[in-house]
Amino acid sequence: MNLLIPCAAGVEASVKRQLHTLGYGDCPAINGRISLAGDFFDVARLNVFLRSGERVLLELGAAPVSTFEELYDAAFSLPWEEFLSAHSLIRMDGKSHQSKLGAIKAAGGVVKKAIVNRLKEKLGVRSLDEKGERAIVGVSIFRDVASFTLDTSGEGLHKRGYRTLAYEAPLKETVAAAMVESSIYRAGKPFADLFCGSGTIPIEAALYALKIAPNARREFDFCKWKCTPEVLPQIRQEAEDVRDRQTKLALFASDLSENAVSIARYHAKRAGVGEHIRFACADMRTFSSKEPYGVLLSNPPYGERLKEGDLFALYRDFGRMYRSLPDWSCYFLSGYAEAERAFGGRAAKRRKLSNANLPCGFYGYLGAQPPKNK
Ligand SMILES: C[S@@+](CC[C@H](N)C(=O)[O-])C[C@H]1O[C@@H](n2cnc3c(N)ncnc32)[C@H](O)[C@@H]1O
Repeated sequence: MNLLIPCAAGVEASVKRQLHTLGYGDCPAINGRISLAGDFFDVARLNVFLRSGERVLLELGAAPVSTFEELYDAAFSLPWEEFLSAHSLIRMDGKSHQSKLGAIKAAGGVVKKAIVNRLKEKLGVRSLDEKGERAIVGVSIFRDVASFTLDTSGEGLHKRGYRTLAYEAPLKETVAAAMVESSIYRAGKPFADLFCGSGTIPIEAALYALKIAPNARREFDFCKWKCTPEVLPQIRQEAEDVRDRQTKLALFASDLSENAVSIARYHAKRAGVGEHIRFACADMRTFSSKEPYGVLLSNPPYGERLKEGDLFALYRDFGRMYRSLPDWSCYFLSGYAEAERAFGGRAAKRRKLSNANLPCGFYGYLGAQPPKNK
């Protein structure tokens, strides 16, 4: 089967490294989706283990299309009846880019009609009641080639299940995981998020360092398809086997808001990593550490709430505080255009990264590293 993994802009390299670590080699990225071949075990593994992919899509087929008739025929020719039943609740999802068929809502309607007609014909029923399990069908048209997919994940993979309470401007779990993965943080290094909000970054850092599969406990749509073999229990067992139960982490997370800290503490407990993170209510300006070679990883505010002058001062003070730490590295994600200038000094690493469709910069300042023989 051909599997596609869409991810946020700027996160592709991180997903590719995660795939490599999972043993899938070098997978190409096409139009914001990473492509690889796999079977139902791979579908389960990717859903359970991937930290930064948004979903795992199964591509049933792709065909050149420039008219609605061609789109209908291409969709009708695919074996939907192997996956869906006469009760499937079909939901359409689509996008079109640089193509003649730009009206994606109409294209979705055409594809759905083709699927319904095919199911009626192949299953020998007169109508579909749509009272059964959800099936998310995707049609993505890029440069006049339509790709038809079924969403194996259902809910987006950022929905790990631990974040149940809301605090302002939470970061997507998948993006937080990509930030952690792209940084030099590894288990054993000091770590701090001084703008922790609802706790996403330190929780994802703990899951990563302890090799805890982020989605081992949740459900996925592909398990409800009629052709799916019983694969999830085995993959959940693999997740149990690989997780590190020995290491004790000493992550630190703080925020100016007491409410945010109590929400973050609650989420960490739900994620099963509460004992690895020490939380505090504090202004980031007061942070200090005598331990060398630590990592600061944060998503400071950049929104409408702060006035320009206050925002500049916040990033300036963040930079000053950072430079007082011995050999620490600092990474932060921000949509504030002046972030780097205010922080002081050019970032050694800089990447565009989209957070909730907002263009942001991911900046990395690297401290000295410990001598190799230590
Ligand atoms: C963009 S939010 C962080 C969201 C977080 N990454 C999450 O996923 O929930 C920025 C956070 O910075 C906090 N903050 C603002 N000024 C601060 C300061 N001077 N020191 C510490 N925290 C601060 C806010 O209370 C807010 O929770």
